[in-house]
Amino acid sequence: MLYGNKRLRQCVIICMKQIVFATNNAHKLKEVREILHDTGMSVLSLEDIGCHDDIPETADTLDGNALIKAQWVKQRYGYDCFADDTGLEVDVLGGAPGVYSARYASSGHDSAANVALLLKKLEGKEDRKARFRTVIALIIGDEEPLLFNGIVNGRITDKLHGAGGFGYDPVFLPDGSDRTFAEMTDGEKNAISHRGRAVRKLAEYLSVN
Ligand code: IMP
Repeated sequence: MLYGNKRLRQCVIICMKQIVFATNNAHKLKEVREILHDTGMSVLSLEDIGCHDDIPETADTLDGNALIKAQWVKQRYGYDCFADDTGLEVDVLGGAPGVYSARYASSGHDSAANVALLLKKLEGKEDRKARFRTVIALIIGDEEPLLFNGIVNGRITDKLHGAGGFGYDPVFLPDGSDRTFAEMTDGEKNAISHRGRAVRKLAEYLSVN
């Protein structure tokens, strides 16, 4: 019986279409697997396909970086793949930090330093409008890459609020909310977030194609 169940599981896995999400970020992977669950696709991570490459993110746009990552996997590993890139765009800073959001204060991906620098640059500024933007690049077979965008508009608070989330969450107040992303549950944030919106567009596309 146990043997039968194991064979069945193997068959289900083999029969499911596989697609790589070019990330090893466990949090993103879980979120994306949940949203793509109903498409019947098996979402593999970079780790799952034995990719330990330091994939360059050298483009100066979110679209460019998402495409580089998806193409890297498709060309070197042969899998259908999607990859994401996200930035926080602040109007009064001309769209900065944008594509450089992870490395705003230093090359070290230091979220606390990034947030501190952002608050400093906005000191005394009235206009605090901002948005998170996620771009997902998808490459299936020999088809041209497709891009899916997800945006959430909001404003940057004067100081940090909340202990949840990551990155700029404690200073990002989405429009229509009196709580920052860092004060929301994962479910509440995913329902309105940039990444949630982009991934749901991807799920819709994958469901009908
Ligand atoms: P990534 O492309 O998803 O790695 O995002 C780049 C950077 O944008 C991250 O290092 C964070 O600083 C910031 N970021 C991305 N998504 C979020 C989010 O949902 N909340 C807060 N900050 C984020």
